[in-house]
Amino acid sequence: MSSPFIAILGTGAHSPAKVLTNHDLARLVDTTDEWIVTRTGIRERHIAGKNETTSQMAAAAARAALADAGVSAEQVDLIILATLTPDQPMPATACLVQHLLGVPARAACFDLNAACSGFLYALDTAWAMLGSGRYKHALVIGAEKMSSLVDWTDRSTCVLFGDGAGAAVLGPARGTAQILGARLYAEGAHAHLLCVPRGPKPVIQMKGREIFKNAVREMEDATREILEQHGLTAAQISCVIPHQANLRIIESLGQYLGLPPERFVVNLDRHGNTSAASIPLALDEARRSGRVRAGDTTLLVAFGAGLTYGSALVRW
Ligand code: ACO
Repeated sequence: MSSPFIAILGTGAHSPAKVLTNHDLARLVDTTDEWIVTRTGIRERHIAGKNETTSQMAAAAARAALADAGVSAEQVDLIILATLTPDQPMPATACLVQHLLGVPARAACFDLNAACSGFLYALDTAWAMLGSGRYKHALVIGAEKMSSLVDWTDRSTCVLFGDGAGAAVLGPARGTAQILGARLYAEGAHAHLLCVPRGPKPVIQMKGREIFKNAVREMEDATREILEQHGLTAAQISCVIPHQANLRIIESLGQYLGLPPERFVVNLDRHGNTSAASIPLALDEARRSGRVRAGDTTLLVAFGAGLTYGSALVRW
């Protein structure tokens, strides 16, 4: 099931300059820094400017990932952009990113929506397409302008989300690094728990408690299944990069898996929940800060609206 030939060659990230703290939010809605930190672990989030688009953030993260990988825009023949906040319903934001980067016309470019699991869905899709031998270098991007879907009068959701983008370049493995496997899931029966219904001003609606319970169970299942498939134990995972929604969700997952908190990469205190951008943002930070070293096996695990969830194993 694993292809020895495909690896993550580089990563990059981009966050908007504007930072919105919990104290700023306490001036907008009836909340406190103490409530938000205790219930979620979030302290601040980046918010895109009015004219700052998902495609611009995605392109900035992609440029950084290409530079990190030592791959040029001309070499890219596939762009998959995971987002639930495209610039427009059409064309695909991936095509706008292609143009911004100067990626040649022979590249396939499309968007993919699996909400907060989007990056893992895009990673698995790109891995399969590269594994077919028909594509050589893929840009896999998660980018979101969640602030455009937030109801800024709803204290139960507006404190959770942030904007940003993260990207990875996939291509022929150099040395031993490789993607070992990925598993994707969806439970459409729970679609109503987290959604953006159509309306004059579409905004996020969420049943927080139910999402919380499902998130822990789903991420535990997705982790156990992929570890079993690859004959690994949780103890053999040097670093877990989970979807950054809520620190208590991550801590519960650690308890169920018997893994100490130090094993988990957490940056939600500074970014909030950036949906599809959350895992690639955390992955980039983890690589650049030395949390991920050659030979390490890293677990990526996510959940999101759908309800979608999934996991992936990467050896560096
Ligand atoms: N400030 C102060 N009080 C608040 C706030 C706030 N920002 N938000 C809610 N409250 C109040 C509620 O009104 C409620 O008051 P009441 O008891 O008087 O009715 C009380 O706090 C408790 O509310 P709960 O919703 O029960 O609080 P809970 O401990 O469950 O925390 C939270 C809420 C943080 C949303 C939590 O349920 C959670 O994180 N759930 C998961 C959400 C998530 O991960 N979403 C992202 C999914 S990924 C994707 O695809 C986008």
